Parts: sequence; structure tokens; C-alpha cells
Amino acid sequence: MNNILAFKSFSPFLPEIEIPVYISTLEEKYLEKLLQFCLNKIPSIFKETDENLIPPGKTSPPPAHWLTNRGWQYNILDNQDESIVYLKQHILKSYHEYCEDNDVTPEKIYAHGWLNECPTGTKIHPHNHEHVLDGNNPLELSYLSGNVCIRTKNTVTNFKSPFVNMWAPINNESGKVYIFPSYVTHSTSENNEEETRITLAFDLITEYIYNLNSDHYNGTFCELK
Ligand SMILES: [Fe+2]
Repeated sequence: MNNILAFKSFSPFLPEIEIPVYISTLEEKYLEKLLQFCLNKIPSIFKETDENLIPPGKTSPPPAHWLTNRGWQYNILDNQDESIVYLKQHILKSYHEYCEDNDVTPEKIYAHGWLNECPTGTKIHPHNHEHVLDGNNPLELSYLSGNVCIRTKNTVTNFKSPFVNMWAPINNESGKVYIFPSYVTHSTSENNEEETRITLAFDLITEYIYNLNSDHYNGTFCELK
């Protein structure tokens, strides 16, 4: 379902903008399988990724305990587990519906996904995906990103107006998938629950972007089909 973030303006010098966010829901039985898959996978991600590698565009390695910044070293969607196969199909279907709702022609797309965990008292700070997590695609081609709430309770994702410091919240609900334009700055509220908040984030790029730098994207993006 298309949800509109409406940033109103009462000034002739401030543009008004409506940003569509597509929200869909995973089948419950696959959500449970996806949660189990992720819980099993997180320790091996820490083991198999290099904490000393400096992410593209950064000048120092990320904190060793922070899962998010290791995302550029793997693609969680490049996996044959049935929960991931289902999720990829779901994202592709949602992408097509999102395009239809917004009168956009769907294209062949490639996806890169990574896991995030927010233990009690932590949150994800404002950022956007205009360059995609592990690449440096031209900003004029900025496309789509998304977020899958795998285990979230009482948190919101806040989306920022591209013009001024105005924010619009969307509730996070386990099992929901959110797709939004990559340029939109977003953050989360603090996780105040005992359980660690777990989400899967993803970037979608078109074949045109993929082919601009296929050597680089070959290892980290997989085609959704
Ligand atoms: Fe993000």
C-alpha cells in the first residue's frame, strides 16, 4: 500500500513535497523463519566479515560490535534459505506494485541486503542511501531502498523532508516491508525494549546502474527475478 509522507508548505519559498512509501506485510510463517535465519546468521557475519576493513567513503573502520557497517561485505539476499527466497519474491512484487501506484515503469532490478541490530538503548542515526551502502553511483540515478522489520517493537522510522528539518514518523511493525526513495534521510527512535531490534535493510538499483560498475556490484548485488 502506498503511504504518502506529506510535507506541507505555507511559504511561497518552500516547496511542498509528497513522498510515497510502500508498505507491505510478510506472511507470518515466513517471518518466523526469517527471524530464525537471521538469529543464526548474525554470529557468522561477525566471524566472516573483517572488522578492520574500512567501508567505501569512510576513513576509519566501524566499531567492531556494530553489525550495520559490515553490510557492504556481504549480501544477505544472496542465499537459498527458503525465508530469503520468499523475501526476494515479496520485495520484487512490492516493487512492481509501488511502480504501478506511482506511474513508473518497472525495470530489471538488483538488490543488496544487510542486517541491523539495535540492542536496548540504541538507535539508527540519520542517514540516507543516495550512494547505496557499498557503492558510489551517480546521485542523479538515486533509486530505491527499503527496510524489513523482522523483530521490532515500539519503534518508529522517521523520514526527513529534503528541504527543511521536518520529520514524519512511520511505525515499525514486525513483518512489515517499507520501500522508499534512497535519497530520503531517515533514522529510528531508540529501542527501549529488552529484546534487540532486528531489521534487514536493502538497496535496489536498476540494470543501468549495475552495468556502470558491474565489477563492483557483481559480488554485492543479486538480480531479483
Ligand atoms: Fe537506512
